[in-house]
Amino acid sequence: MEIAFILSLEHETLPLAELKAVLKAEKVPYSIKNRFKGLIVIDIPDEYLAKDHSKNILNRLSFTHEVFQVLLTCEEEKLTQEVQKYAWKEIINDEFAVRIKKRGKSSTNTLELEKKIGSIINEQTEYKYSVNLEKPSVLIRIVLLDGKVFLGKTILKISKKHFYDLKPHKRPFFYPGSMSPKLARCMVNLTMIRSKEKLLDPFCGTGGILIEAGVIGAQVVGTDIDPKMVKGTRENLEHCHINNSMVFQADVRTLKLPYKIDAVATDPPYGISASTRGEESHKLCGEALLSLENVIKEGGRICMATPHYMEIKEFLKGTKFKIIEQHHIRMHKSLTRVISVMVKT
Ligand SMILES: C[S@@+](CC[C@H](N)C(=O)[O-])C[C@H]1O[C@@H](n2cnc3c(N)ncnc32)[C@H](O)[C@@H]1O
Repeated sequence: MEIAFILSLEHETLPLAELKAVLKAEKVPYSIKNRFKGLIVIDIPDEYLAKDHSKNILNRLSFTHEVFQVLLTCEEEKLTQEVQKYAWKEIINDEFAVRIKKRGKSSTNTLELEKKIGSIINEQTEYKYSVNLEKPSVLIRIVLLDGKVFLGKTILKISKKHFYDLKPHKRPFFYPGSMSPKLARCMVNLTMIRSKEKLLDPFCGTGGILIEAGVIGAQVVGTDIDPKMVKGTRENLEHCHINNSMVFQADVRTLKLPYKIDAVATDPPYGISASTRGEESHKLCGEALLSLENVIKEGGRICMATPHYMEIKEFLKGTKFKIIEQHHIRMHKSLTRVISVMVKT
């Protein structure tokens, strides 16, 4: 079965990397069929979509907007012809709507095309079900790429409400420098953590990363050197009803745990003061990785955010960690954030 993912255009590489990590973590066998800017089409065995839990799996994605089952693909000029030939009676079983998204330089009037396709489907189904633009039960999604069209039935629209409702300043405990919930979720996903596994953030701050890991069902372990942050993280986790958590004060450099951690997602302090140019935090990050080697299981992943001037590869010399991938996020003229994914070999 061909499934298409409408990806966010906010970042060049993170949306696809996140999707691949989630599919791999959840053991969904797949092969990539088509790849465009903002749209990726994969092939997965039919039974994977029949399972109800697959929606929960896909729901954890932060840089994907929508998932649809591909029904037809054609050149844009042949679209109406192909829609006329399609067996809509097998697909439309309730009120429906047609929605179009552009992911290329198409000059098509989308409103007109939506109406046109809607009326062809209506005709084909002998007006048994009406068009409902407000709350359709069946959503027919069309994506226009440069000259090419993907048409399908929406399986899942990923709600972004959670990310808006839980913006750092809306949580009970706020401290400047908190990471956006969307990026935090993406980092958690890049670790390939699964529900019930243990994820650690050893620089937990206000708990943003832990909240996102908790929401997708992981057991969360948070530590911070600052007792104020420990208290604040506890408050924030409670606010988000994340009970499966352990949060305590610890210096990452001497962190000891009575169990092994499955994954780490973390955002260490940057120390961007001009005088030190991050020298202190540079040393701290190196020592943190050495310490984390003892708490994470073999094959466990670390996803870490660092500023561009911190050479993370240097820290890995002599450790069992290997960099798998890196993503660059330009924050402003003088700061690029680097998201590195490492694995303990
Ligand atoms: C950039 S903040 C983390 C922000 C967090 N991601 C959030 O969304 O709130 C870094 C945190 O590292 C903590 N920290 C600094 N040095 C530490 C150390 N040696 N061990 C543990 N935590 C430390 C600071 O107290 C701070 O809360």
